[in-house]
Amino acid sequence: MSEVSNEKIPNNVNLSEDRKLQRALEKWLPNYLSWWQDMGPEGFQSKDVFLRTAISVDRDGWANFDYVKMPDYRWGIFLADAQPDRKIGFGDHADDLAWQEVPGEYRNVLRRIIVTQGDTEPASVEQQRYLGMSAPSLYDMRNLFQVNVEEGRHLWAMVYLLHSHFGRDGREEAEGLLERRSGDADKPRILGAFNAPMTDWLSFFMFTTFTDRDGKYQLLSLAESGFDPLARTCKFMLTEEAHHMFVGETGIQRVIQRACELLKTGNGDVREQGGVPFDMIQRALNHWYTLSLDLFGSEISSNAATYFAAGLKGRAYETKRTDDHVLLNEGFNIDVVRNNKLVNEEVALRNALNEVLRDDYTADNQKAVDRWNKVLRDNDINDYEFKLPSQRFNRSIGEYADYNFNPEGDLISKEAFDAKKAEWLMSPEDIEYLKSIQNQVTKPGQVANWIAPPKTGIKGRPVDYEYVRL
Ligand SMILES: [Fe+2]
Ligand SMILES: [Fe+2]
Repeated sequence: MSEVSNEKIPNNVNLSEDRKLQRALEKWLPNYLSWWQDMGPEGFQSKDVFLRTAISVDRDGWANFDYVKMPDYRWGIFLADAQPDRKIGFGDHADDLAWQEVPGEYRNVLRRIIVTQGDTEPASVEQQRYLGMSAPSLYDMRNLFQVNVEEGRHLWAMVYLLHSHFGRDGREEAEGLLERRSGDADKPRILGAFNAPMTDWLSFFMFTTFTDRDGKYQLLSLAESGFDPLARTCKFMLTEEAHHMFVGETGIQRVIQRACELLKTGNGDVREQGGVPFDMIQRALNHWYTLSLDLFGSEISSNAATYFAAGLKGRAYETKRTDDHVLLNEGFNIDVVRNNKLVNEEVALRNALNEVLRDDYTADNQKAVDRWNKVLRDNDINDYEFKLPSQRFNRSIGEYADYNFNPEGDLISKEAFDAKKAEWLMSPEDIEYLKSIQNQVTKPGQVANWIAPPKTGIKGRPVDYEYVRL
């Protein structure tokens, strides 16, 4: 693999050999840092945090653990190693050599894909910026900051592609990525879920379970791209994304574990004892899962067909699939609403590729939910089960957006939906309650009352390690 240099911007892309690009990125760096100071974790910029830093892409190098102040975290540019003579694996250019430069005909759409992916990274940092102040333990606080700095690095990854392959347009887009703000009325982030407010840790854990997993699936499909620098960039990002989902999934496990414990103590009322009741957990699941479903786009999409045909965006694990990777003759069955009735229609598979990716994503989520249900069973609770709602429920984008469905996926009236909304989705009262129980805990080894302690610490350190020095 290529050597990692010890420059201002750590990288394995031989940045020092491209002076023009190096200068452009060094110019972007202070703008990035000032964005980080303004919009990164509020109140903790001068604290030492036990963080993992990527210093190269090989097995050992990408996980270097030490105390670092977040603004000194070395955000760098890392691409997975090149595969010599890699071929495009799908679409109309299948079996051609992968592109090292942007093909002119796809320049605009490729830039759009990269900007849209890039925009999600700083957006999530903005959404999470106040959560440190209500962290249930130093362990959790550290995990939050780890996720935050890595999302910052993912922004760097996309900005590198914009700067190195898209000329002036790319540089302007890179500036734009620092100018939009999550939830801002005038300059919002591009995608819906990344403008949703996040003021509680239940939401943070659901977000890292469901929305970061959307990230995983987008990255899996871009890791197949015929544009080789994008594929290599996304491959490396996937290694970091796995940790974000770990944080979310185990976080919810611990919230469930604590609720199970509280059911058996005191008067058995989880909420009265300051825990998070199962139905509130389910509402948060419904909220963040369905917001994340929207990120995959419309069920029937000519854009998805175009991206696939062009070789820009494949299916997840495209190379491992055994079909012809061209998909010109196959169909895909999809439920759609016609004359206010749910009917099944066949569409061309290429037009249904958003749905193919969404189905894979849902199957992956189901495994996480199964593990959450296992916590219930391990605590001898057999009369409750967490469930993923139907992919039609609570959607704002695509075939189902103009209709109302219950969590089982049945078409219902707007009145029926509104009547049940507070039972199905996180309400302002839920959020107020969560905020009221989520007081910051700063003593090493101590954990807030609403969540069970983690089973193990980070990188062999004990649970009561001082993960953040306050
Ligand atoms: Fe990311
Ligand atoms: Fe992530």
